[in-house]
Amino acid sequence: MHVARLILRDFRNYERAEVALGAGLNVVVGANGAGKTNMLEALYFGLTAQSCRTSNAREIVRVGASVARVEVHVQAEDGLHALEVGVEPGVEKVIRVDGTRLVAGVDPPRPLVSVFLPDRLDLVKGAPAGRRAHIDRVVVALWPARAGTRSAYARALAQRNALIGRVRAGAAGADLLDTWDRELAAHGAALMANRDAAVELVADAFATRASELGLPEPAELRYAPRCAAAEVEAIERELREHRESDLDRGFTTHGPHRDDVALVHGGRLLRTLGSQGQQRIALLALLFAERDALAARGAAPLMLLDDVMSELDLTRRERLSELVAADGQTVITATEPEHVPGAEHGATVIAVTAGTVTESSARAAA
Ligand SMILES: Nc1ncnc2c1ncn2[C@@H]1O[C@H](COP(=O)(O)OP(=O)(O)OP(=O)(O)O)[C@@H](O)[C@H]1O
Ligand SMILES: [Mg+2]
Repeated sequence: MHVARLILRDFRNYERAEVALGAGLNVVVGANGAGKTNMLEALYFGLTAQSCRTSNAREIVRVGASVARVEVHVQAEDGLHALEVGVEPGVEKVIRVDGTRLVAGVDPPRPLVSVFLPDRLDLVKGAPAGRRAHIDRVVVALWPARAGTRSAYARALAQRNALIGRVRAGAAGADLLDTWDRELAAHGAALMANRDAAVELVADAFATRASELGLPEPAELRYAPRCAAAEVEAIERELREHRESDLDRGFTTHGPHRDDVALVHGGRLLRTLGSQGQQRIALLALLFAERDALAARGAAPLMLLDDVMSELDLTRRERLSELVAADGQTVITATEPEHVPGAEHGATVIAVTAGTVTESSARAAA
């Protein structure tokens, strides 16, 4: 599955634009401020109905316009499908698939998207919550049937926290927590098993990709669960042991909602001790390792890589280009086409200037 065409209407600095994409490597080239990141955002938006940069619809709609529209044509096995998202601040988003309003619960024909933006470095250097959310998304991408586990755990956690509040207020007995301990432990064990399996599946590729992209020392992806145990009964016991301090502090202090996924380089946590460049490489290695795992299941995601080349040296740029060329569809932005080695061999080059697509050409293999 790949995106064959992108059509924009009043999206960011694009009044109207239409661009054909290749099934392999696409390079969006333009000066600073031309609209390269906006185009990646538009692709993400067309496929997910969410922005990868903002939760504020007002920012997305072109200044002076009232409605933004993104249309993405997806080439699937059964033919071409049109996904259309309209956004108007303060009004619910409208998503159409082949001209018909999308029904809740129906999954439209679209590839998964994996996005690298400079501010996504937070995934490496930010708080554990971002990494938990990320690994849980990877779980769903790998095993769609497990989509409900995270929310089931979150619901049980909210119930347990609410009960803690009532116990503290003297409105309920502490023994009522037994039920919620069991419930939380059951969902928690499932959530932990999912995370463990996803990390396990991606970890080897992460180490390989990190070394290929030039991390000098061995890199490691490690699941760091908060609970010592993995079985339901043992987790329940751990919750019981923390009950006193939970009641003291007023919330559930222990459990997989405190998990982390550690990115390690040379035995040190990249989060705190990695250089900016090392953190960038680790994030790329993680996204490509996930792509490997998904591609092995026949569902390679569309890779959107914003401004990845600028801080890499030539050797690393070449390695990244090889990785990009190896599998699936990629859209990569650069201020200079020379920053993407190998782009002259068969890549689709999309030139943008001030919100206008000035040129789109599939460069013939030399
Ligand atoms: N809602 C909007 N309406 C109109 N213009 C907007 C809107 N949002 C952003 N812009 C404009 O889009 C331009 C930035 O586009 P974008 O971030 O895609 O640039 P870029 O090509 O990625 O640049 P760089 O190389 O610096 O990253 C800016 O000129 C900005 O003012
Ligand atoms: Mg940009």
